[in-house]
Amino acid sequence: MFTSRALFLGILAALSAATCLHAQTSGTTTTTWDCCEPACGYASNLSSGAKGPVKSCNKSNGPAASGAQNACFASSGNLAFSCDKYQPIIVNNTLSYGFAGHGNTATSTCCKCYQFTWTSGAAAGKSMIVQAINAGGITDTDFDIYTPGGGVGDYNACTAQYGAPSGGWGRQYGGVTSDSQCSELPSNLQAGCHWRWQWAGGDVNEWQITYKQVNCPSQLTSISGCTPASI
Ligand SMILES: *[C@@H]1O[C@H](CO)[C@@H](O)[C@H](O)[C@H]1NC(C)=O
Ligand SMILES: *[C@@H]1O[C@H](CO)[C@@H](O)[C@H](O)[C@H]1NC(C)=O
Ligand SMILES: *[C@@H]1O[C@H](CO)[C@@H](O)[C@H](O)[C@H]1NC(C)=O
Repeated sequence: MFTSRALFLGILAALSAATCLHAQTSGTTTTTWDCCEPACGYASNLSSGAKGPVKSCNKSNGPAASGAQNACFASSGNLAFSCDKYQPIIVNNTLSYGFAGHGNTATSTCCKCYQFTWTSGAAAGKSMIVQAINAGGITDTDFDIYTPGGGVGDYNACTAQYGAPSGGWGRQYGGVTSDSQCSELPSNLQAGCHWRWQWAGGDVNEWQITYKQVNCPSQLTSISGCTPASI
C-alpha cells in the first residue's frame, strides 16, 4: 500500500514535470516597424543550431547587397533595411502569422517561433505564430510585433527608406493611433498597418498573452530565410 502510494506520487511528480515542458508563459505584446536590419540578420546573433541569418533588404525591398551596413547605424554605401515581407499574415479570423522582436539576448531567441494567445485587449482569444527576427532592449516575455506604423522605437531607418517623419509614423513608441492614419504609409506597407486595427481590433500595445515555443511554419522560414533548431 505504502509502496504503491509512493509510486503514485512519483508518477504524479513525473507527469507535472512533463507538463512543465509545455507550460505556457505569461507575457505581453508591443508593436514595431523601424525599417532597420533586424538583429537576427547578423550571423553572430543566431540561436544555437539556427541556419540563417534572417534576410534583410535594400531600400526598395530587393535582397540587401552582400556586406550592406545596417541602415540604422550607417547612412552611406550599401544599406540593409528590414523587408516589407515582415508584415503580419492573416490566416483566418482567429490566427495570424508574423514576425517579432523577442527578448534582450539575441542568441537565446533569434529565429525561434512562438505561438501566443491574447488574454486581454480586443484580440482576447485570438492567436499568432511569430518568428523572432529581432532582439535587444525588449523584455524577455514581450513580443514586439512587426506591423508597419507600429512605431520606430529607439532606432529609425524609415526616414531613409521611405521618407517617414523623423520620429516615424505616429508615436515613436506605439506608432499610429488609428486605422485611418495607415493612409500616411507607403502603399506596400498599408495592409500590415490595417492588420492591427482591423484584424486585432486595436492598438495591441501592452495586451496580455500566454505563449510557448513551437516549431516554425514553413511559410515563415521561407520568408525570413532562417530556420531554428527544431524543438
Ligand atoms: C534592390 O534590389 C533589386 C533586386 O535585386 C534591384 O532591382 C534594385 O535596383 C535594388 N535597389 C536598390 C536601391 O539597390
Ligand atoms: C484558423 O486556422 C487554424 C490553422 O489552420 C485552424 O486550426 C483554426 O481552426 C482556424 N480557425 C477558424 C476560425 O477557421
Ligand atoms: C547582434 O550582433 C551585432 C554584431 O555582432 C551586435 O553589435 C549586436 O549587439 C547584436 N544584437 C543583440 C541584440 O545581441
